[in-house]
Amino acid sequence: MIPGVAPSMPAVHHGLPPGPRAHRTLQTARWIARPARFMEDAARRYGDMFTLRITNEGTWVFVSHPDAVKQVFTGDPRLLHAGEANVVLMPVLGSHSVLLLDDDAHMAQRKLMLPSFHGERMRGYEQTMADVAAREIERWPAGVPVRAWPTMQAITLEVIMRTVFGVRDTERVERLGEVLRASLAWLAEPRRMGQLALLGARRIAERGTLRAALDPTDALIYEEIRARRDAPDLAERDDVLSLLLQARHDDGSAMSDKELRDELMTLLVAGHETSATALAWALEALTHHPAALERLRDEVDAGEDAYLDAVIKETLRLRPVLALVLRRLIEPMEIGGRMLPAGVNVAPCIYLMHRRPDVYDEPRAFRPERFLEQPPGTYTWIPFGGGVRRCLGASFAQFEMKVVLRELVSRLDMRAARAEPERRVRRAIVFAPHRGGEVVISRRVAAAEKLAA
Ligand code: HEM
Repeated sequence: MIPGVAPSMPAVHHGLPPGPRAHRTLQTARWIARPARFMEDAARRYGDMFTLRITNEGTWVFVSHPDAVKQVFTGDPRLLHAGEANVVLMPVLGSHSVLLLDDDAHMAQRKLMLPSFHGERMRGYEQTMADVAAREIERWPAGVPVRAWPTMQAITLEVIMRTVFGVRDTERVERLGEVLRASLAWLAEPRRMGQLALLGARRIAERGTLRAALDPTDALIYEEIRARRDAPDLAERDDVLSLLLQARHDDGSAMSDKELRDELMTLLVAGHETSATALAWALEALTHHPAALERLRDEVDAGEDAYLDAVIKETLRLRPVLALVLRRLIEPMEIGGRMLPAGVNVAPCIYLMHRRPDVYDEPRAFRPERFLEQPPGTYTWIPFGGGVRRCLGASFAQFEMKVVLRELVSRLDMRAARAEPERRVRRAIVFAPHRGGEVVISRRVAAAEKLAA
């Protein structure tokens, strides 16, 4: 139980919790157009658990009480499927993707991948991340509004190519970057998700447009995998692909080229836009809170990390990139004092959890200090989901944010381009700042130059 949070309902009720009565189509329209408002209105009216009905997605039961979220994250994964809910991504990610699997197949794939994402490993990526960030940031013009988001996208894409795919040669990074950007842009077209949902995974996979968008990317990825298999320095390399090439299934077999391709695509799609968006939100929040930005800069200049960590945690709390995670119930299950029927999607709601006044003082305020006073709770700070499906890249993403923000504040003075904070807009499934984190920069006089002056 969380101190200060009243326990969830003691008696067990049967059936779905209440929710808006509007027709499914109207609920879907509100969910697409104003998701945050829709969730907040429903929580105000119906409390910790409510039902929304979304076209093509079935029934979603939102849960935001810490006890209920804990039940979902610690519940039996054989009865709470996450992979099924992501099946629309199958044509792109492939049938081996850890995001799409459930049960034993999921655990087997996750076990192979986990060691490559262990927090300790991240230090080896620091210099690459810092160099990529520094180069991109140096291109920003001073004195005029700049949207941070495209630059953050460029940084996170190149970081994935270099640290996950392990591409070192700059010409190859450029070639791969070009085809990956084209595939990702194809995927990000607004009509695409609808098409995938409507036509279904198999029919889409057979259509020429998908193959035309993905084939050049696949060709380069397979080329990279084959070349790396034969690399004489494979055992010394620390990029994720090289580690996966050396990983072994329980029966001693290595991952096939197709498995490796599917996991590389998964890491790219799961890790690129999410991290870029979180970085854009961090800049949006910091430039609208100059005192926090000043404190961050002073601490970074002094070589301290604690406040930087707190800024990242607070950004992911107040501006989570994803609003919720989903688990499909395979059998009826009691959650939050309700016996829910099989077939519904239970949705631990990141957005609502992070705004609970019984968990966070002044939940709407950007106050990084809160995480210096108290560490984040496993079931109350959930930007990366939880349990056996918790984001594999959580340490990677936070480490990358740290390195990139450090480069930004030590190189630039920044202010918000406009006084009013940026609204949240939906980009495919992520919540992004509507002007992309718009800032005005000037270059800082380096400490050494200051001393010399
Ligand atoms: C700020 C950046 C990121 C955020 C907010 C984020 C968030 C999430 C969330 C909410 C989930 C679903 C968890 C659940 O269902 O309980 C997830 C899954 C996943 N994420 Fe991330 N993610 C980020 C960055 C990354 C990065 C950088 C990578 C890899 C390089 C990555 C790889 C994955 C993978 C592979 C999964 C699937 C795990 C599984 O199903 O077992 N993510 N992420």
